[in-house]
Amino acid sequence: MLVLGIESSCDETGVAIYDTDKGMLLAHRLHSQIDLHAAYGGVVPELASRDHIRRLPLLLRETLDATGLGMGDIDAIAYTAGPGLAGALLVGASVAEALGVALNVPVLPVHHLEGHLLSPLLSADPPTFPFVALLVSGGHTQLMRVAGVGDYVLLGETVDDAAGEAFDKTAKLIGLGYPGGPALAKLALQGTPGRFKLPRPMLHSKDFDFSFSGLKTAVLTAATAPDFREEDKADLAAEFQAAAVEVLVAKSMAAMRHTGLKQLVVAGGVGANQVLRVQLDAAAAKRKARVYYPELELCTDNGAMIAFAGALRFAAGEQGGDGSGRFAVRPRWSLQEIVQPVVA
Ligand code: KG4
Ligand code: ZN
Repeated sequence: MLVLGIESSCDETGVAIYDTDKGMLLAHRLHSQIDLHAAYGGVVPELASRDHIRRLPLLLRETLDATGLGMGDIDAIAYTAGPGLAGALLVGASVAEALGVALNVPVLPVHHLEGHLLSPLLSADPPTFPFVALLVSGGHTQLMRVAGVGDYVLLGETVDDAAGEAFDKTAKLIGLGYPGGPALAKLALQGTPGRFKLPRPMLHSKDFDFSFSGLKTAVLTAATAPDFREEDKADLAAEFQAAAVEVLVAKSMAAMRHTGLKQLVVAGGVGANQVLRVQLDAAAAKRKARVYYPELELCTDNGAMIAFAGALRFAAGEQGGDGSGRFAVRPRWSLQEIVQPVVA
């Protein structure tokens, strides 16, 4: 079965084709809107929607061309139905649903975070169920116990900002551009953690929850001190990154201890952070555990993870839409609301 995946929940347009018979991704294409939003210091929803409209047909064509397939070869379609920006989601949803009607193939709405969560299974050396997942994106920070497709138990989550959001806001506070996460990580390379002292929020809270908004406030206090200089920025960035990473690592290890599992899967944009990867690997090695990451290019938003999550659900017997051509997007949508596919 050839599954076409479409992602348009935020500032990346992604298209991919996954082959369930071969168990592999045939092709995927991505267009990032970074240049479009950079001048505004963040994502402008209306511009995002319009750009998705412009890019999707082109990316669809490129993805098909890369595989040598025609539109008529597609057996099923999966698209991100939420969570995300309503207008941006509507673009992917309407293209997917319209194609479904035109090609007379089933169409399946996919949860964006399920895409992230399952994306490490696309790598050459994938984890096996069950595992602990650390989901760290711009909108979410969650620890889950994952026992199968749709079998997700929430262990803990952020009580305020998401980890990626904290990176982005901190980057903005010290004058770095959008997207802040990668920019902050780059500046931190030139700095030394420890010269500034930032808190490790909820490090000893004995649960699996996180809090990042206090960290951001502490950065603001440090950066607006009268004696703060331009050349201090790298040290502050390094300390912020060290603090955020320390908490993420400690809670992930606590979740593994609690569940008794030895596999940790990291998904979402912050999973691209190299310091987080190094520290997680080191902490896991001490516990004789292993950390799995998606391929670096599949850490941030992409169509491949949506095609793949859809493919797993179709393979498990899920049927897709009711064929009426009616659909709705879910800008706010908890991962806890989705369920295991019912095997046909
Ligand atoms: O998963 P993603 O592409 O989009 C969402 O679904 O949110 O994640 C984007 C987030 C942004 O907050 C971005 O700043 C952060 O991931 N991010 C990073 C890095 N690369 C992306 N944060 C820290 N270090 C990075 N290298
Ligand atoms: Zn995402």
